[in-house]
Amino acid sequence: MFDTTTTIREIVADDYRAAAVFQKHGLDFCCGGNRSVGEACREKGVDVRVVTADLEQALASASDQPRVNAWDLDLLADYIVANHHGYVRLAIGTIGAHTRKVASVHGERHPETIEIAARFDEIAAEMTSHMAKEERVLFPYIKALAAAKRDGAPAPRAPFGSIANPIRMMEAEHQSAGDTMAAIRELSGGYTPPEDACTTYQVAYKELEAFEADLHRHVHLENNILFPRALVLEQE
Ligand SMILES: [Fe+2]
Ligand SMILES: [Fe+2]
Repeated sequence: MFDTTTTIREIVADDYRAAAVFQKHGLDFCCGGNRSVGEACREKGVDVRVVTADLEQALASASDQPRVNAWDLDLLADYIVANHHGYVRLAIGTIGAHTRKVASVHGERHPETIEIAARFDEIAAEMTSHMAKEERVLFPYIKALAAAKRDGAPAPRAPFGSIANPIRMMEAEHQSAGDTMAAIRELSGGYTPPEDACTTYQVAYKELEAFEADLHRHVHLENNILFPRALVLEQE
């Protein structure tokens, strides 16, 4: 199935349950997935035999995850928009309201909540413009490529030269969003509310944790599956 030379990207694309294993060992599977397991473990100083054994255990049973890797790219693009962009648009309103409220009530005793609210507002604005670019420019082109391939028609003309250009830009924005969420995780002590935290405080941390997990899967679907396969399709 896989060995230490298989890339993290391929393993997670094949079965998303592997993501939890990589996460547990501190190995980046969404923005840094284009490295082999062996190489990533060497860099992190993690024992590759432990990671491999954990992977084998996690992937041993039949998976109930959708086999997104086998989907046509237009279906995958629509799924990302409906499932992940839809969630982000709903979640940023609620989470932003909660983090700002926590900052205004608890900011004096817990100044990190002020920084967290500011960083979350930042990521909300970044993601809003990022998703609009994907939905208006990149995804429609990827969908047209997929349709042309199915119909045996020539590739549509791209408004941006090679598709590699907007993909590079989207990947840089993914990195920035991932870094901001990592900073929020750090500031919140791994989303651990203090003893005196009120309900809103606890809810806000739970929501932030869920938002980061969703971002990882969202970025994984784009960086590890949608974009590399669109690049191959463009070549064909
Ligand atoms: Fe996206
Ligand atoms: Fe994206």
